[in-house]
Amino acid sequence: MRRFRLRDVQDVAVCLSITLYICDLAGAISIQSAQRSLTRSVQEDVFFSLDVSCVGIPTIQWNFMSGAVSRTIGTWQPGVYSNITLDYSSRVRPYDNGSMGLSDLRLQDAGYYVVTVTETEGSSKDTGFVLKVNEVLYEDLQYLSVSALALACVAALLMLLMWLLDKAYRRIVAWRSRRQMPENNATELQPL
Ligand SMILES: *[C@@H]1O[C@H](CO)[C@@H](O)[C@H](O)[C@H]1NC(C)=O
Ligand SMILES: *[C@@H]1O[C@H](CO)[C@@H](O)[C@H](O)[C@H]1NC(C)=O
Repeated sequence: MRRFRLRDVQDVAVCLSITLYICDLAGAISIQSAQRSLTRSVQEDVFFSLDVSCVGIPTIQWNFMSGAVSRTIGTWQPGVYSNITLDYSSRVRPYDNGSMGLSDLRLQDAGYYVVTVTETEGSSKDTGFVLKVNEVLYEDLQYLSVSALALACVAALLMLLMWLLDKAYRRIVAWRSRRQMPENNATELQPL
């Protein structure tokens, strides 16, 4: 029994030291991110918040993936250089902590965003974000129904105004004819 226990303890110790060794190797780079799944609407902005820490200056590379499409968004080293792909240059903002801001979203921006952090020594680590982009169809419909309602109100007001004007005109005509022919209007104009 004692031998078994001793072996178990030894095995656990070996396992622990291997784990610690692996942790130490991978632990050189740390990527902190709170939210990995984001939903935005077309034309809105998104901020992929990260906090990268490692030995030396990290190289941060962001890639986009969706279905068969895979492209590099940009690569930067805080304080050294920043290379954003032409397609994204007007919409992407790189941050020193590895974060990336993407503005004026389009439907095609929906997909996976993978950030790869590489240390000076060459080891690297990555993390992914999922972005969903919603259409703003609902707001368009709302806008359309509001404008239709406004137009209907204007039309109703115009009709009311025309009806009032018509009534006033008839009254004026009747009043005038009554004044012009005071001798025989009494019987003629009674139905009005
Ligand atoms: C990264 O930096 C940006 C800008 O300074 C900040 O807004 C953001 O919160 C930071 N992200 C994290 C996870 O600390
Ligand atoms: C910038 O990135 C593009 C594409 O990733 C690459 O072809 C180009 O060589 C890079 N330029 C610099 C100055 O690093």
